[in-house]
Amino acid sequence: MDIGAICILGGSGFVGRSIADQACARGLRVRVLSRSRTRTRPLTVLPTVEIMVGDPRDEATLGRALEGMDAAVNLVGILHEGAGRSFSAVHAELARKVVRACQASGVGQLLHMSALGAAEDAPSAYLRSKAGGEAAVREAVDAPHWTIFRPSVVFGQDDRFLNLFATLVRLFSVIPLGAAHARFRPIWVEDVARCFVRALGDARVSGRSYDLCGPRAYSLGELVEFVARTLGRRRWIVPLPDALARMQAAVLEHLPGQLMTRDNLRSMSVDNVCTGAFPEVFGFAPAALEAVVPEYLADVSARARYARFRDHAGR
Ligand SMILES: NC(=O)c1ccc[n+]([C@@H]2O[C@H](COP(=O)([O-])OP(=O)(O)OC[C@H]3O[C@@H](n4cnc5c(N)ncnc54)[C@H](OP(=O)(O)O)[C@@H]3O)[C@@H](O)[C@H]2O)c1
Repeated sequence: MDIGAICILGGSGFVGRSIADQACARGLRVRVLSRSRTRTRPLTVLPTVEIMVGDPRDEATLGRALEGMDAAVNLVGILHEGAGRSFSAVHAELARKVVRACQASGVGQLLHMSALGAAEDAPSAYLRSKAGGEAAVREAVDAPHWTIFRPSVVFGQDDRFLNLFATLVRLFSVIPLGAAHARFRPIWVEDVARCFVRALGDARVSGRSYDLCGPRAYSLGELVEFVARTLGRRRWIVPLPDALARMQAAVLEHLPGQLMTRDNLRSMSVDNVCTGAFPEVFGFAPAALEAVVPEYLADVSARARYARFRDHAGR
């Protein structure tokens, strides 16, 4: 497979921006389809990125976006359902449309983003719909060369996971935590992107699914403690019993920003950890949380400190 041009669906997001960046560094032409030009603004500094504004759920738009492309990367995903966006439409139906559009446009390779723990009988609707997306790719007749990626939680400068804990740690000295014992093996966004970009044009990964995890497992409680330590704060983390955690999530899912939903909580009732080693085919070992996170969390706290200094100085 010779790859010169790729189209990233969901390329404006947290993972998509890193993939676009690394694909450009490899000299590829990258087209990003997004519903919002504003969200793609950070990508415009990349030399070989072309932004196309449109909704990937519209099959005609999808067809136009894939025209002339050698590979498609489907990252479109949501963590919470809402008006006009259901898990099944975004994760399963869209995956079917993407496969059909790849076939129609002659796109030879499809890299599909799923999630670790996706299964038909998973406890959460999010993970069940991700399994629907995987099935749409795996079971398609005459599908392009496909590869499915199933990461545990992804961390990085702009993540909504450790940064959320950092905000809570800065604001509160006591943190009541649902699913405190749920386990994860967080993986760095740049390592996820590296797997995607190395998979491009590599026939060895065709028809394979890869679980992607960082080197160590942590409970949710340990992750919050790690963030607090990194920010130099002592915090009291109070693990909530299941019934209270459900009540907390029921309240939070109705507040703006939906910090946590009952479906998120259900997804954490099973551990989100890989059983095997990191896939050798990608040729590198993933970074440890401790080697990456202090740099970006400390950076934010330093900025916050400077802002406070400026406030005090009246500037
Ligand atoms: N972050 C993690 O920890 C993690 C872990 C496991 C799996 N994943 C999966 O990785 C993928 C990327 O995650 P991310 O963290 O980068 O997410 P993100 O920052 O929220 O980006 C999601 C992307 O999906 C697009 N999108 C969202 N809702 C859409 C809709 N209704 N219709 C069309 N496009 C829509 C957005 O494009 P627009 O520009 O059009 O808004 C955006 O670029 C997702 O599939 C996610 O489930 C993420």
